[in-house]
Amino acid sequence: VPISNIRNFCIIAHIDHGKSTLADKLLQLTGTVQTRDMKEQFLDNMDLERERGITIKLQAARMRYLLGNEPYCLNLIDTPGHVDFSYEVSRSLAACEGALLVVDASQGVEAQTLANVYLALENNLQIIPVLNKIDLPGAEPARIAQEIEEIIGLDCSEAIHCSAKDGIGITEILTAIVKKVPPPQENADKPLRALIFDSYYDSYRGVIVYFRIIDGTLKKGDKIYFMASEKEYFADEIGVLSPGQMPVGELFAGEVGYLSASIRSVADARVGDTITHFGKKAHSSLPGYEEATPMVFCGLFPIDADQFPELRDALQKLQLNDAALKFEPESSSAMGFGFRCGFLGLLHMEIVQERLEREYNLNLITTAPSVVYRVNRLNSDTIECSNPSFLPEPGMRKSIEEPYVKIDLLTPKDYIGPLMELGHERRGLFKEMNYITENRATITYELPLAEMVGDFFDQLKSRSKGYASMEYNFIGYRESDLVRLDIQINGEPVEPLATIVHRDKAYAVGRALTQKLKELIPRQMFKVPIQACIGAKVIASEALSAIRKDVLSKCYGGDITRKKKLLKKQAEGKKRMKAIGKVDVPQEAFMAVLRLE
Ligand code: GTP
Repeated sequence: VPISNIRNFCIIAHIDHGKSTLADKLLQLTGTVQTRDMKEQFLDNMDLERERGITIKLQAARMRYLLGNEPYCLNLIDTPGHVDFSYEVSRSLAACEGALLVVDASQGVEAQTLANVYLALENNLQIIPVLNKIDLPGAEPARIAQEIEEIIGLDCSEAIHCSAKDGIGITEILTAIVKKVPPPQENADKPLRALIFDSYYDSYRGVIVYFRIIDGTLKKGDKIYFMASEKEYFADEIGVLSPGQMPVGELFAGEVGYLSASIRSVADARVGDTITHFGKKAHSSLPGYEEATPMVFCGLFPIDADQFPELRDALQKLQLNDAALKFEPESSSAMGFGFRCGFLGLLHMEIVQERLEREYNLNLITTAPSVVYRVNRLNSDTIECSNPSFLPEPGMRKSIEEPYVKIDLLTPKDYIGPLMELGHERRGLFKEMNYITENRATITYELPLAEMVGDFFDQLKSRSKGYASMEYNFIGYRESDLVRLDIQINGEPVEPLATIVHRDKAYAVGRALTQKLKELIPRQMFKVPIQACIGAKVIASEALSAIRKDVLSKCYGGDITRKKKLLKKQAEGKKRMKAIGKVDVPQEAFMAVLRLE
């Protein structure tokens, strides 16, 4: 088709508002995939994603659509649905001219919808509002349309009423994409510039790169150059996504496609990088490229020290496919050898841990996540510290800075009080509150990232009965009065339990943490003191009393099922323990600091 008949679009939606369901229906109605070869949801094709019901990796699909007798080529570029991946979202938006804004007509606008709409507006996308789930008895499309108009200022007089589930409104959506989304610009004669919006590692072919050509033309076999990674390759295979990979000989400005070039790691062809010709380089790369900056770090230690080499291999393999994952070896007397790993956020961290355990069969202890602190030392240099146990002693440092985020909460007005309490408890600096409709308000805080790591999101949900949503952005480093809280078990410091807290909270955290550890650590054959200290000073102390008898002694001989049950319980309890000195410490103890009441 001519470039004037190409439309590149994406779908933006809050989690669970129906993005994947709608994408499936668009693919079905255009005959791109037959119902019988559809996996349950075509676009989210990683198992882990399906289980968690969230979209992590972006994908793309090309659809053919006839309007009247005119054939159109519609490229759908999928976007991940979680704040940890907002950079990826911004790059896939940059590859499009239009966006479907899908809003659940029974729920209304959520914080993430807002954030993504603003990103789309910044990228000058044409936005088509879609009110989904109109089949639900609680759907109020008229009210939600008005809400979108009020909050976002988007004309909703032509908003499409849709039920992705029942297939209502799908043709209207396809027609609106053709009529409202502008075609790409005709830049085929310029030097090649293609924007990478996704890449993944395939163990047979190397990295597969998904891109949108902004300027120029790419032919099979061309020598290409990645402008950010400064790597050169031959484009052995190029093609389109329909949605399976279909090789072609040539791709032009405006088109979306994939290439493979025996690239060994996604770090060489990262999202946001610009592909150009090696022999005829573009003057400048496309805007918006960012290095991945890990915001959250944790220690990963094999329970069985023999698994250290396997853990290293597994991390290296995952990194081939995940340019944002960082790791370096770490050892401690308590934990032995392991790795300090950096992640974009907590979800990213959980995904990596889960894959290590599930796909690589590793048995790991994970230490509590920490943010990256900046320590200004007395000798006037500044170091970054992502491991609390390495925080320089007070005598060595002038000040400590910690990362701050701006966080926007969107909530029904009934929960404003409880959420403001939460913001206050987490050292939040209240910035503003606005009623966006009669019943809903946005509340903005500036808050230390460290206070968000852990159960902030759970608290937000439980204090608002599930109705509030949030969105956050890193805003920079600020000085804080922080101290390191060390934990000693049986008189030995346990480095992975060390944590950095605000001085005003240190006593409360110390008390709560020692109590929690007392609950979590199983009793031993001897008495075990558990202490929290700042420097040499003990600020809280608990003791585990000794057990003398074996669990089985409770069984009074007779009942064999009860005996089995007890043994099983004991075995389960043993699964995730790390022996620290003479004391077995369970996995939960390492995370205890995240869930202190
Ligand atoms: P993420 O991938 O997490 O971003 O979610 P999503 O926005 O892709 O949502 P998804 O398509 O997975 O749908 C979420 C839930 O809403 C699923 O249980 C769907 O079956 C349901 N759903 C989607 N569209 C409709 C609809 O039109 N009507 C009804 N009743 N349910 C729908």
